[in-house]
Amino acid sequence: MKKITTRARRSIKVINKTSEMQKISKKIRRRNISIGFVPTMGALHKGHISLIDIARKHSQFVVVSIFVNPTQFGPKEDFSNYPRTFNKDLDCLFEKKVDIVFAPTINEIYPEEYGTYIDIPDFSNKLCGKSRPTHFKGVCTIVAKLFNIVSPDIAVFGEKDAQQVIILKKMVKDLNFPVKIITGKIIREPSGLAMSSRNKYLTDKQKQNASIIYKTLKETEKKINNGERNIQNLKKFIRNGLLTKMDHPATAENELKIDYIEIINKDNLQQPKTLKGECLIAIAVWCGKTRLIDNITVNFNH
Ligand code: PAF
Repeated sequence: MKKITTRARRSIKVINKTSEMQKISKKIRRRNISIGFVPTMGALHKGHISLIDIARKHSQFVVVSIFVNPTQFGPKEDFSNYPRTFNKDLDCLFEKKVDIVFAPTINEIYPEEYGTYIDIPDFSNKLCGKSRPTHFKGVCTIVAKLFNIVSPDIAVFGEKDAQQVIILKKMVKDLNFPVKIITGKIIREPSGLAMSSRNKYLTDKQKQNASIIYKTLKETEKKINNGERNIQNLKKFIRNGLLTKMDHPATAENELKIDYIEIINKDNLQQPKTLKGECLIAIAVWCGKTRLIDNITVNFNH
């Protein structure tokens, strides 16, 4: 990446105030210019960049938000340690010619008297919601607020957070948000490890061991294409792959601990009775103290 001067960094428009962002969005929309929106928590990587490229392709004016949303972190989670790389993020958004960066303070989003939350319990208590019971309530609430502040025509989310995408599509439909959700494919390291801001927490050995997640998902896809249709056999195959095929012997620091392995219907997050059509294989594992998620879509009609 080119070295960017503080002056150039300052020339990117950063809005901190909700009222100002709303005023700008209103003005843009009055001129019939379409707004594309990429909500982020910063610590940007190539996955985010790919979402910005998609937003650019589908809209004329691109807004990226940077806000580490406290309500989606549980009390024992990594809110205070979550990587914050604001200046570096601005360099990258400047290079991508993003039109506006919306970076509100916590108080701007959740003033003291704040009291409204959005929850979709049937969807948010499954998969990641089992170990992160308040996570999706926080995600729905912040995304709904950001949609009301930015008024985008389209919003782009990464497919790595598959459950998040499914829940947000439901929220948009249920609450009639005039926003089209577009998704971007998972961007991976050469090893196959899905890119994530939380990969910054991993040591090199942990990264190598965690690359078994995607390799196992691909091996599972092969097994399905060869005819395996038994859910329990498939889950056992994945479990075995994750726990026994790592590059480095499992130590307290390097071992993978499985949070969940699920094969689910993409519309309702339920495990289907019989495997047919498109399903999602979703995995969450702990690698040391870092929780990693990944998924692939498989087609059982092949
Ligand atoms: O996917 C994320 O980074 C966050 O969950 C989001 C959508 C920006 C909401 O805080």
